[in-house]
Amino acid sequence: MGCQMNEYDSDHVGRLLQAEDFKPSEDPSKADLILINTCTVRDKAEQKAYSLLGRMMGLKKRSPDLLIGVMGCIAQQKGSALFERFPGLDFVIGTKELETVPRILEKLAREGGRVVAADLTKPSVFPDTSPDYFKNRVKSFVTIMEGCNNFCSYCIVPYVRGREVSRPPEEIIKETKKLVEQGVKEVTLLGQNVNSYRSGGSQAEGGFSSLLRKLNKIEGLLRIRFTTSHPKDLSDDLIHCFKDLDKLCAHIHLPLQSGSNHVLNSMKRGYSEEHYLDLVEKLRRVDQDVAITSDIIVGFPGETERDFELTLGVIKKIEFDNIYSFKYSDREGTLASAMEPKVPFQDRATRLQTLQNLQKGITLNKNRKLVGQRIEVLVEGRSKRGNELTGRTGSNKVVNFDCESELLGDLVKVRINNAYPNSLKGEFVY
Ligand code: SAH
Ligand code: SF4
Ligand code: F3S
Repeated sequence: MGCQMNEYDSDHVGRLLQAEDFKPSEDPSKADLILINTCTVRDKAEQKAYSLLGRMMGLKKRSPDLLIGVMGCIAQQKGSALFERFPGLDFVIGTKELETVPRILEKLAREGGRVVAADLTKPSVFPDTSPDYFKNRVKSFVTIMEGCNNFCSYCIVPYVRGREVSRPPEEIIKETKKLVEQGVKEVTLLGQNVNSYRSGGSQAEGGFSSLLRKLNKIEGLLRIRFTTSHPKDLSDDLIHCFKDLDKLCAHIHLPLQSGSNHVLNSMKRGYSEEHYLDLVEKLRRVDQDVAITSDIIVGFPGETERDFELTLGVIKKIEFDNIYSFKYSDREGTLASAMEPKVPFQDRATRLQTLQNLQKGITLNKNRKLVGQRIEVLVEGRSKRGNELTGRTGSNKVVNFDCESELLGDLVKVRINNAYPNSLKGEFVY
């Protein structure tokens, strides 16, 4: 559950378990071990994890030898308190404890009982590359930095992922090369705030854009993406990478959160609406077709109808390719959770609906402009219905198209024939 970093962490533990001779099971009721990787960014994510855990506890009643563990951001935040809520739970591991999983399993097998390991002050651990875990995958994540020092007033992430830690470039390059050897064609570099990536030295030598320039040279790698980029630290140098680096996809996820300076201030985001608009202009000057997506929170404490209108105004002005929008959710221990006045739940829901309707029209319009164009698509596999191939454009839009041959992992040209809100339909151009 949760963000891409959680998915990457799940694979990290997956590799460790593979080395211990565990094999993945499609059916939880047949598993010997269930490990749930949780997210606590909003209350809804937290409740979803509890409900899944509750259901898994039911399996435990039928097979007492089953081991159940919780990892990820709820595990980090709640630690041993989870044992009170879920008496059948066997272990809890925090976000810096991934490498301890094999030792915990050994201890549980030897002594039984329960184990909690959730020390956030431990150094970040990054995976060692394993020879075949990523076979048959076209794309993969690579974490380049973890943690956050920004403490936006609504956000729990700094409390569950700790302070910013950047990974040495040599390690990132080594891991990416290994992935390419296994067939991976596209990597997405992950960090809570990739613009803060720093591997010593000056910004020019050790910053994020310098890392991108190094990765761009890896042979066999076709595409590079990254997420998430913070508007307050987006440098001109990084903006120029969109022009200079042939493998860097023309897409940036740049969370705006709100279009009102009053709200941005109380969110402690560290930029103004004007600064954000300036960035968009710079990006489009370098590449007029660069896709820009964003995150927006509606109903932040103190957000008035007028503030919300300002957000809608900015959305209309910028015309994002897509927006991930959320109702504000109180997170324990954050500054915003003590802020007043809270926006009534009903108003949050109404604002979310209004915003999503507006964006749906914008996204569809943008997609329609692509009809008739020939666009490069990286083929990721068969569509859910199985009769079409599916892939993504550099701008990260999903394209489905008819094709007899298997072109998994190839960059192909597709002519776009139809546009929908969430995908495009096209035909393979020979
Ligand atoms: N590091 C990223 C965001 C990580 S969280 C960044 O700084 O942009 C992903 C998104 O969840 C955020 O961009 C924000 O829009 C949303 N979010 C975070 N905390 C939230 C909260 N308490 N309530 C509602 N949405 C929240
Ligand atoms: Fe959360 Fe802000 Fe850090 Fe993003 S930059 S993870 S929103 S505190
Ligand atoms: Fe959720 Fe943790 Fe990611 S709180 S969004 S899984 S960093």
